Amino acid sequence: MPLQQLSRVFLPAIEAELERTVDLADGPGMEEFHLMQAYHLGWRGEDSGPEASGKRIRPQLVLLATGASQAVGAGNESPLSDDWRKGLPAAAAIELIHNFSLIHDDIQDNSPLRRGRPTVWKKWGIPQAINAGDTMYALAFIALHRLEETCGPSIAMEAYQLLLQAILKLTQGQYLDISYEGRQDLTLDDYWPMVSGKTAALLAACTEMGALIGGASQPDRTAYRLFGFSLGLAFQAQDDLLGIWGDEALTGKSADSDLVEGKKSLPVLFALEQGGAFARRWRHGPLMAAEVPELARQLEAEGARAYTQEKANQLTGQALDALEQAHPGGEAGSALRELALLLLKRNA
Ligand code: IPE
Ligand code: IPE
Ligand code: MG
Ligand code: MG
Repeated sequence: MPLQQLSRVFLPAIEAELERTVDLADGPGMEEFHLMQAYHLGWRGEDSGPEASGKRIRPQLVLLATGASQAVGAGNESPLSDDWRKGLPAAAAIELIHNFSLIHDDIQDNSPLRRGRPTVWKKWGIPQAINAGDTMYALAFIALHRLEETCGPSIAMEAYQLLLQAILKLTQGQYLDISYEGRQDLTLDDYWPMVSGKTAALLAACTEMGALIGGASQPDRTAYRLFGFSLGLAFQAQDDLLGIWGDEALTGKSADSDLVEGKKSLPVLFALEQGGAFARRWRHGPLMAAEVPELARQLEAEGARAYTQEKANQLTGQALDALEQAHPGGEAGSALRELALLLLKRNA
């Protein structure tokens, strides 16, 4: 189980890199300002701890891709060299960008709960939550700057560009997600541009940045990027499924909010195209929270859950094919394969 062993090494290093960056937000009179960051990242406040921190998938992907491209040509069992540490500034930066996007996303989606706790806007109000998200965005680039120390200025400059391009795509995806809420004319084809932006762009940046830092060849780097991108599409399809049929106690998010907010998730778009009872109810007007359990059953009966699961499976298959093209080496390479498969079985 290389993934479990490597996670045990990576996770404390990721938390330390994040903490040292986020501490820069502290200072005289800034205790509450700093608390908003530390609360969202799961370190402080009521019910803090690993579950409140999230899975840290993205920084682990950065470090695994760094390690796997450093070990190109090495066998599956070949142990990780200490050089993976060079990727820590990028790993922290991407996790901070992910969390910036979540703080703002919870406002945009009117979500009261994240990782089983009240969202930042629920606790401190929308104006402070917007500002807390902006702070996390700035902290991400402060973290990334340390890449100059670990990898030199030319790789650091390329990494800046990669991350900024990913954020541009992420915000384009969020634009589509939000603008779709009020639209009735959408089909399954409209889903993929939205999730390519809002989710897959950042996962693609994780694996490409790891490849950049690990010194991968240009073709391998392109394959790493495609791996992260396909994995991101699969990840969002699975997130949509968990958003309707997941256990709130495990996802830490409310199970009716996607439907009540009118989100064009993959199961919903599938059912709208089917034109059955779910589609008829949907076209009748906004869904109420009280109807959600029955509508979730209806959606499942119309095949939307099976369709979404099948898409997530197919996209994970595509991701694994791309990964083989990237020639991942050593234990880190094996752990990347394991992680891709594990994400399909996740329940949180
Ligand atoms: C949630 O991402 C947002 C999506 C892009 C689907 P994660 O499920 O990775 O969130 P955390 O960080 O583990 O809570
Ligand atoms: C995930 O959006 C993408 C970003 C936050 C950029 P969602 O709105 O689908 O994710 P959850 O379900 O709130 O985590
Ligand atoms: Mg959203
Ligand atoms: Mg959301």
